[in-house]
Amino acid sequence: MPLVSMRQLLDEAAKGGYGVGAFNVNDMEQIQAIMMAAKETKSPVIVQASRGARQFAEDLYLFRLIEAAAELNPEIPIAMHQDHGNSFETCKSAIELGFTSVMMDGSLKSDGKTPSTFEENVEVTRKVVDFAHERGVTVEGEIGVLGGVEDGHGAGGSGLDHITDPDQAVEFAERTGVDALAIAIGTSHGAYKFTKKPDGSVLKMDILIAIHKRLPKTHLVMHGSSSVPKDLQDIVNKYGGKLKETWGVPVEEIQLGIRNGVRKINVDTDNRLAITGAIRKVLWETPEKFDPRDYLKPAREAMKAVVALRMTQFGQAGHAGDYKPVSIEEIAKGYKDGSLSTRPLVASK
Ligand code: 13P
Repeated sequence: MPLVSMRQLLDEAAKGGYGVGAFNVNDMEQIQAIMMAAKETKSPVIVQASRGARQFAEDLYLFRLIEAAAELNPEIPIAMHQDHGNSFETCKSAIELGFTSVMMDGSLKSDGKTPSTFEENVEVTRKVVDFAHERGVTVEGEIGVLGGVEDGHGAGGSGLDHITDPDQAVEFAERTGVDALAIAIGTSHGAYKFTKKPDGSVLKMDILIAIHKRLPKTHLVMHGSSSVPKDLQDIVNKYGGKLKETWGVPVEEIQLGIRNGVRKINVDTDNRLAITGAIRKVLWETPEKFDPRDYLKPAREAMKAVVALRMTQFGQAGHAGDYKPVSIEEIAKGYKDGSLSTRPLVASK
């Protein structure tokens, strides 16, 4: 199957009332782990690469691996997404490479660290939307600022520093026409999200629900959504790691989000923990081993198990065969004739 527009994948998820995990990749084993999980659970999937990942793997290696994943798994709809594009140029280069979706994170300036103004965010995001939609490519924007830092990108601090204002979210969606919108409701990137198990009073689910009511056609995105399970932390620490005690986003909160318009859920840290724990275990227990396959194979298996579990929990499992891919050219026509517009024509409070 050719790579699919992320918009189609999310529209289908909205129809089916489920969420789709967006899993970060840097290398072949991670892509294989995701595809093994997608095949096993019959899930459509979003594979995403940050700027750091594109640099690490080199664009062409990375993209050819994704093409191989699509060719080897013709029954799985795959969208290839740029995670946290910091500028128009980053998004343009991803589109030119063949990505079917980009995130323009205009919540930060192009240094990827300093919060930008609302007007700056609108301006750069709208420019990306114009360029991308003409080519049938999906755009995710961000309003409010997430906490933490990932791959050198992020404002740092707590996820509660810059919570999304629903009025601004509506104005942003109207003025940019984004397909999907990342909102800040208290999550942050990385392993250290919360110092105790967060309950409903920590994550601002009421804000998410209010935004979905006013933007029913814009797919909401939850970033920083690793659950940082204790069993994965324990494996890392048992075999020589030094992780401090920490809590992630409970899966029940993500499922509440999915019932209220969340269609894309970003997960990276849980997979990093699974991979690191598996590698540490092999090297700790059998220090005489030096063939990378001896630890990369269990690492790939460990990541596959996490991804398959999330696919089931998010509800995307079993939906890979629900629909046929619409070509990117058809999607571009839908943007042009307005049939794919997400703009909130009647934004009732
Ligand atoms: P985690 O660090 O919680 O996995 O979040 C990843 C993410 O949001 C990527 O954009």
